[in-house]
Amino acid sequence: MRILGIETSCDETAVCLLEGTGAFDPTFTATLHGNALFSQAALHAPYGGVFPNLAKREHQKNLVPLLTECLLQAHELHPTTTEQKVETLVGEILVREDELLKQTVSFLRSHTPPQIDAIAVTHGPGLEPALWPGINFARALSVAWNVPLVPVNHMEGHIVASLIETRDKKIAMKEKIQFPAVALLVSGGHTELQLVRGFAEYQLLGQTRDDAAGEAFDKVARLMELPYPGGPEISRLAQNCREQKLPPTVTLPRPMLDSGDYDFSFSGLKTAARKVVESHQPLTETTRTVIACEVENAIVETLVTKTLRAVEEHGAGTIVVGGGVAANTYLQHEFARTTDETGVIVLFPSKEMATDNAVMIALVGLFRAERKEYQKHAQVEAHGNLKL
Ligand code: KG4
Ligand code: ZN
Repeated sequence: MRILGIETSCDETAVCLLEGTGAFDPTFTATLHGNALFSQAALHAPYGGVFPNLAKREHQKNLVPLLTECLLQAHELHPTTTEQKVETLVGEILVREDELLKQTVSFLRSHTPPQIDAIAVTHGPGLEPALWPGINFARALSVAWNVPLVPVNHMEGHIVASLIETRDKKIAMKEKIQFPAVALLVSGGHTELQLVRGFAEYQLLGQTRDDAAGEAFDKVARLMELPYPGGPEISRLAQNCREQKLPPTVTLPRPMLDSGDYDFSFSGLKTAARKVVESHQPLTETTRTVIACEVENAIVETLVTKTLRAVEEHGAGTIVVGGGVAANTYLQHEFARTTDETGVIVLFPSKEMATDNAVMIALVGLFRAERKEYQKHAQVEAHGNLKL
């Protein structure tokens, strides 16, 4: 089956064309024929976070160029001089998408349909103004090309992103997952622990009560006047701190470490970090480095400790870490160190698969399409707080 994947839940616009065989099992393989992505991170940097209406406008502007690039890579871009008839429904679906409507109609008039069997699109969780252009674009293409639509949960995408490996354009399963598995999903908007009994069998064990782990990295970075996104910046300073063996002159709390449940809270850590930053003005490079290190230590220690407790309680054989914060090398290091002698397998996404992308959406779309989980275009809507 050939599937077009579309992702616009946050500040990445991405389109890919994936061909996969079989269902979700260790023998699954796929080929990535086309993959186009534009990150808006630099545009949002001055705001210190993602600005929803800017994200929306950028998605509207970039979806057709990215589709074009993706289809070109996949040898599925078929320009024609015979003007193609475009369903009037396409205009109705994209009525609120302005520039996207113009570009989409112009594209559909001048190209014959590509060879695809389905379209997968993120319908949540995420920023609703950002989700809508991707959803409406997917709905319009599904009507214009008469192919079915599969709505995909972004967090399930982050789980699947950690289970696969990519070599050139070939995608395969990493290794046999020992179910039950525990999934730690950590991004700019989410921090949650899920018990995974099999594909599509999820049970929420705990989640953050306030800020997400990525958000904590971003907010503390902003306090110290580091650029957005803050996670990689804090991580870079923390690594310097460990290499230089700077004395740990700052201590921050590990919130809810012993709360007896699987919930998290990171807003207290941010407040404590603010007090430390304020009492060390003007910040020297050394103080900034030491604070960054302690922030990373506190976040990573909390995430690892709670995940290992869940693994023990549920007899899990695999830990799956997904989401943007999964790119954190100290988190990877600490999971490897603490599970070294337990036989528990820890799966992390590759660098490209850790941050938002369309490949993970297309993969979930393939597995869901295999189960015939299609939805009519009018039923697919944005759900900012969609649960797994
Ligand atoms: O999954 P993602 O790309 O987008 C969301 O759905 O939120 O995650 C973005 C988050 C940001 O908060 C960013 O600071 C964080 O992931 N992040 C990191 C690292 N790389 C990205 N946090 C810690 N260490 C990193 N290396
Ligand atoms: Zn994400």
